[in-house]
Amino acid sequence: MGGCRRSPDEPPYAPASCYDPPVMRTADDFNRYYATPDPWGYARATFRDKVLRRRLTRSIRKKSVLELGCGEGHLTQVIFHRARSVTAVDISDVAIARARALNLRNARYENTDLLDTSFGGYDVITAIECIYYLSHEEQGAFLAKVAREHSGKLLWLSGPIIDYQRYFGHRRLMLEFKTLGFTVIKFYNLSVYWHPLSARIVGKLLKLPLGYRLLDRLPERMIYQRLYALRAP
Ligand SMILES: C[S@@+](CC[C@H](N)C(=O)[O-])C[C@H]1O[C@@H](n2cnc3c(N)ncnc32)[C@H](O)[C@@H]1O
Repeated sequence: MGGCRRSPDEPPYAPASCYDPPVMRTADDFNRYYATPDPWGYARATFRDKVLRRRLTRSIRKKSVLELGCGEGHLTQVIFHRARSVTAVDISDVAIARARALNLRNARYENTDLLDTSFGGYDVITAIECIYYLSHEEQGAFLAKVAREHSGKLLWLSGPIIDYQRYFGHRRLMLEFKTLGFTVIKFYNLSVYWHPLSARIVGKLLKLPLGYRLLDRLPERMIYQRLYALRAP
């Protein structure tokens, strides 16, 4: 957990995974990680903001949104201010207190495990970079809960698709979506893996004006994070 140090080559917004992914699951785990504000460096991840804004804005504009794993409210502020309302949920009370302090006019907060909150009554659910902290069984339970409580509606889900033991692989995710009856409307690449050097160079080129347009043309082996637009069964 705390012993895993980020490589200087990792994008600032990457989970502090290194090659031995930390096991963070409880409120205490995440509170410890939040000892320093903005531990994932989201404030500097402007490319991530740009890509997510481009993909999410149309579907959440004037809608009621359930934002799971909202952390310190970075996306609540920079993306979901366009929603009619956003209920932002996080397991860490430290993170939620920082999110609340942003005083966002359309947001309310819940400090709870995302598996324990109701998914009913929202137009859109988003789970950006948080579901891979659940065990595989819990990830299945999460999708089953979305299917039960958010039937026929839109779910946005993202995470690293590199095949770290605990993380989603693209193939495993697609199989799970299919098995549970989810329709994959579309998926988009969010960021490039930082190994080998050639991928890092491509990552830098993407940050040039209009470079982000190349993101979805890159081969899967170069991709670190992917975003899925799903229709619940
Ligand atoms: C990598 S951060 C992502 C924050 C935010 N979604 C973003 O992309 O800017 C993961 C967040 O998910 C939260 N989280 C992880 N597991 C959770 C769970 N079971 N229930 C609620 N929140 C959880 C963590 O506390 C942390 O704030």
